[in-house]
Amino acid sequence: MLGSELEFHQGYRSTYRIWDEVLGEAWPIEKGLYESLLQEKKMIAIAIKDKTIAYISYEIFECEVSIYVIVVVPEHRRSGLATTLLNRVMHEAMEQGVNKATLCSFLSSPLWRAMPKDRVEAIAFFLANDWVNKGSSLDQICNIERYESPAFLARKHKPQGMDLGFVRPEETNVLLDFHSRYFPHWYPFYKDFIDQGKYENIVVLRINNLIVATCMLHYPGEIFSGSNWVKLMGPDCGAPSVLGVANEHRGGSLAFFIFDFAIKKLKVKGAKNAFINQSDAAAIYGRFGFSVAWDYVHLSKYISI
Ligand SMILES: CC(C)(COP(=O)(O)OP(=O)(O)OC[C@H]1O[C@@H](n2cnc3c(N)ncnc32)[C@H](O)[C@@H]1OP(=O)(O)O)[C@@H](O)C(=O)NCCC(=O)NCCS
Repeated sequence: MLGSELEFHQGYRSTYRIWDEVLGEAWPIEKGLYESLLQEKKMIAIAIKDKTIAYISYEIFECEVSIYVIVVVPEHRRSGLATTLLNRVMHEAMEQGVNKATLCSFLSSPLWRAMPKDRVEAIAFFLANDWVNKGSSLDQICNIERYESPAFLARKHKPQGMDLGFVRPEETNVLLDFHSRYFPHWYPFYKDFIDQGKYENIVVLRINNLIVATCMLHYPGEIFSGSNWVKLMGPDCGAPSVLGVANEHRGGSLAFFIFDFAIKKLKVKGAKNAFINQSDAAAIYGRFGFSVAWDYVHLSKYISI
């Protein structure tokens, strides 16, 4: 176990080299984007003789601490460094009254959404620290350069009075009421876009002028959840996200209609690839040609003093 020669510091700039060496091949990311994402987070790093060899990036928000990245250079592994870093963060969190730790979360735009299943050693590390596997999720991707509505859609019944389009300025309060009622966890995302006047980033499906389904769109060049991975996804990548249908309108293929409309809009705006972060309905998107790009395991831990 390394001892007194360890120095602790908070400089995120010295960590890009480690990221690039250890994870850069699997998860390539530009230095500027990496630093702009990390500078908003908290950081504890360990150095020996001014050379950083391990770090943890995290954020404490209300009752939860989110761990975004934890990395140790290969030559210093299995010496307890990651455990030391994790324990420090847990201690700080507990002192602030936090009772839950998660590996990433939806709080902000983390580098990871959860733990990729192929990071076997990192999963083993968290399990050894009494974290618990809370299930899995998928990212999906599709090349949409030649996208056309799938044949099965023509056989679906279109409800009378259905129309699709971007949200209208006069509809924004109705849209927010819709999310307060059906999808309160997505309300902040829609509110943010409306406050910025990004009406062309919000697709709505109406029946007889009533909003019954919504979806957000992120066009190529915009920052969206997972857009730090555009290098992996190919050029000109856009993303549909947070697609929801009102409870009483489910089972009627509306998700298919709004998704098809959304992908066509992405294509018109120049997207060559479409990416779905933490896909909640992989089977639906699979019918539109989306395949699984990454498979994650969700890890968390309840903590108490
Ligand atoms: C995961 C990682 C941070 C662990 O760092 P570390 O300093 O070697 O971890 P520790 O020495 O504190 O290990 C604590 C315990 O975790 C478990 N563990 C750690 N690495 C393990 C491995 N490769 N296989 C099995 N168990 C492992 C062991 O139980 C270990 O205790 P032990 O050495 O007494 O058996 C390091 O392997 C790493 O940097 N991996 C690449 C980066 C990564 O994938 N990060 C996750 C994305 S955020």
